[in-house]
Amino acid sequence: MATGRNMMRAVQVFEFGGPEVLKLQSDVSLPVPKENQVLIKVHACGINPVETYIRTGTFFRRPPLPYIPGSDVAGVIQAVGDHVVGFKKGDRVFTFSTISGGYAEYTVSSVDTVFPLSDKLDFKQGAAIGIPYFTAYYALFQKGSAKAGETVLVHGASGGVGIAVCQIARAYGLKVLGTAGTEKGMELVLKNGAHKVFNHKQKDYLAQIKEFAGDEGINVVIEMLANVNLAHDLQLLSSGGRVMIVGCRGPIEINPRDTMLKQSSIRGLSLFSATKSLNGGLGKSQLEVPAFAVLVGRLFRSSHRAAN
Ligand SMILES: NC(=O)c1ccc[n+]([C@@H]2O[C@H](COP(=O)([O-])OP(=O)(O)OC[C@H]3O[C@@H](n4cnc5c(N)ncnc54)[C@H](OP(=O)(O)O)[C@@H]3O)[C@@H](O)[C@H]2O)c1
Repeated sequence: MATGRNMMRAVQVFEFGGPEVLKLQSDVSLPVPKENQVLIKVHACGINPVETYIRTGTFFRRPPLPYIPGSDVAGVIQAVGDHVVGFKKGDRVFTFSTISGGYAEYTVSSVDTVFPLSDKLDFKQGAAIGIPYFTAYYALFQKGSAKAGETVLVHGASGGVGIAVCQIARAYGLKVLGTAGTEKGMELVLKNGAHKVFNHKQKDYLAQIKEFAGDEGINVVIEMLANVNLAHDLQLLSSGGRVMIVGCRGPIEINPRDTMLKQSSIRGLSLFSATKSLNGGLGKSQLEVPAFAVLVGRLFRSSHRAAN
């Protein structure tokens, strides 16, 4: 046994439901890495909204019970399976996908979902990269075709994905507008790269955004709550503008005519689908990972400076 033990502590779900179904167990078998897999000693695990959707049992993904939740993990490689190249015991890494679950002392991941963790980042920062930053990059550039000089509205900028979009978009030379629902959230959005922030709980905030964006309008909206905002987003767009649907929690009525004059588009995306369709995962060619990892390191360093 690579760790010298057979058992570990982990949070397991034995039945779908609310937070109360999360059970801390101390006698869970240690996962063993198979071919092209690595065993990671978990130092930090990120928590995303999707973990809560899966836990309720109403999401399209229903893992067989019992299961250990958790996708975003940062830690140190403890052992590697057969045919693993590029990683060895002792490497600091992060991943956006685990096979055995991240709410545990150890987890197993497929090597094509594992990336080196820069020594500029601590484990907590590493556990916040995967789903939020990959989604942000995927929505902005790979699906949203955002370009330097364009204006992006991050509709829901104070959360995990929103902050990542603000940082990345600012670093790539976009003009960044963000929204948040509290004073604290608004401060956070400005600290993380937005040129201007609006409060999505204020009645007239859409008029304020419209005025700020001027005749040109918004080139790209990164939308975290489409069931509330989609109809308004269409009114804010520039000619050829795009709404990228990252988050949506229900239906909404829109007038398709609102897309015609400006030849605008609405595009949904899912990181889950990206991992299936993009050649076996968010591989190096698809997400330009080396450049992306350097960018993430730079962003974290600058946000640290801003925070200090
Ligand atoms: N498509 C994908 O592949 C993908 C990947 C990751 C996440 N997601 C989804 O994207 C959404 C955001 O994820 P996250 O990790 O950033 O969640 P999070 O950290 O919980 O953040 C939620 C965000 O939504 C904002 N919000 C609340 N009311 C809003 C409104 N009326 N209009 C606009 N924004 C509003 C919140 O702002 P305040 O709290 O300041 O009000 C906050 O910024 C979730 O629905 C998640 O499931 C999708």
